[in-house]
Amino acid sequence: MAGVSKASGQENWSSRAAFILAAIGSAVGLGNLWRFPYVAGESGGGAFVLIYILCIVLIGLPVLCAELMIGRRGGGSAISAVTRLARTEGHPALWGTFAGLGILASFLILSFYCMIAGWVLYYVIAILGDLFSNIASNGLGAISAGAFESSTPEEISGRLGALLARPGEAIIYQGIFVLLTIGIVSRGISGGIEKAVTILMPAFFVMLLILVVVALVQGDGTAAVNYLFKPDFAALAAGIADRSILSNALGQAFFSIGLGSALMITYGMYMSKDADVPGSAAIVCSADTIVALIAGLAIFPIVFQFGLEPGGGPGLMFGTLPLAFQQMPFGAVFGAVFFLMALFAALTSSISLLEPAVAWRDGGADLAPEAKMKRRLLASIGLGGILFALGVMHILSQVPTGQANFFNSWVPVDFGPFAGKTFFDFVDVLTSQFLLPIVALLTAIFAGWVVSKTASREELGFKTESRYRAWYFLIRFVCPAAIFLIVLTSLGIL
Ligand code: TRP
Repeated sequence: MAGVSKASGQENWSSRAAFILAAIGSAVGLGNLWRFPYVAGESGGGAFVLIYILCIVLIGLPVLCAELMIGRRGGGSAISAVTRLARTEGHPALWGTFAGLGILASFLILSFYCMIAGWVLYYVIAILGDLFSNIASNGLGAISAGAFESSTPEEISGRLGALLARPGEAIIYQGIFVLLTIGIVSRGISGGIEKAVTILMPAFFVMLLILVVVALVQGDGTAAVNYLFKPDFAALAAGIADRSILSNALGQAFFSIGLGSALMITYGMYMSKDADVPGSAAIVCSADTIVALIAGLAIFPIVFQFGLEPGGGPGLMFGTLPLAFQQMPFGAVFGAVFFLMALFAALTSSISLLEPAVAWRDGGADLAPEAKMKRRLLASIGLGGILFALGVMHILSQVPTGQANFFNSWVPVDFGPFAGKTFFDFVDVLTSQFLLPIVALLTAIFAGWVVSKTASREELGFKTESRYRAWYFLIRFVCPAAIFLIVLTSLGIL
């Protein structure tokens, strides 16, 4: 391919399976376990799920193909991959900026992702600690106890709030998670990311299977299936009327696959030339969606069984679910398994969120492998330090206002969609409603209008010309138009 060559010191995935596992690991995360169920619950259950799947197929999948294709043609970092590709096509190198914005988006997301993963780590430790002390005082029979058996329901649902009021502790858990993430990414592709995902992802799937079987056997599976899959057309119509379902569904699809963040461009750089881009993209999208749905089937049956209301909102995983685990036989064991599973999923996502920034800092394309590894270590440590500091800001901004500190009253940008939002909410809205969609929009325009048809046809290697044409049509017209409408909706213009 004229003018585009792979960097010499750059590592590639050691096998197709390794790439697929890493990409699924990146996609499957807290977005599937924590965000999808409550967003789906809030926006009309089955109706939302339907629209969500359409968003994945018509927008997520083509954009994912585009990101992988762009990455695989380039090398070095997402910025240099895009810049080089733009130049070969006779377009200004300025296009590289959108990849830069994507790197910024993934880094900012990671800054609060580590805080949330820190909460998950806290729940693993709290449930296990409680179980062990129960066993210590009541003997081994206590293993069949529910989670937090001696706590009142108020104490359980208030647990996260109580942690937020102890920022010092939350900072320690967040810091441990940052350390785990940089520890893996600093070891590179084959020695770090691949090793981690080949252990963590199979373990994740086993735990998910155990939990879904237990939930369906012990819980109210019918209520869960109705809740998730029975389309509520009234809610659907209302949501479409105010467009919230559409923007929620597309926003969730981007977040869940991890689009618009330079991440799949970066992971695409490490694909070999004979890898099947559309096939891999389809596997990643389906696995991600299936995990989100199965996670719903692991969560809602036990929530309904014990007469709890899913309620919607972020409290589902950290408040409602622990209440269900309290009432369930062996709830402490299953609760610990649930949060451990979430921790594994979060870790394989957080390493993918750090990789674009590290690949950008780890030196030029032509460095020798040893020099590159050294720079990678330094980059991971430096970026990890910044992440930790940003995470502290997020944590302080979440402290109840009764315990005043600078960050829980600081509103960085007090207008429009950001009005009244403290640091964490500000970064959340900035990334998920603006940066990710805008970068995805530019990616679609770049892939559809800047990259030549010959190049994209060759690079994607679709099995049939009609599939290529479908992709080309979606990426040129449907994706940009749909994403543009969503951004306007977020801005409150539509
Ligand atoms: N997809 C992950 C999840 O579902 C999170 C994630 C990983 C992500 N990489 C991303 C989100 C890039 C946005 C952009 O939890």
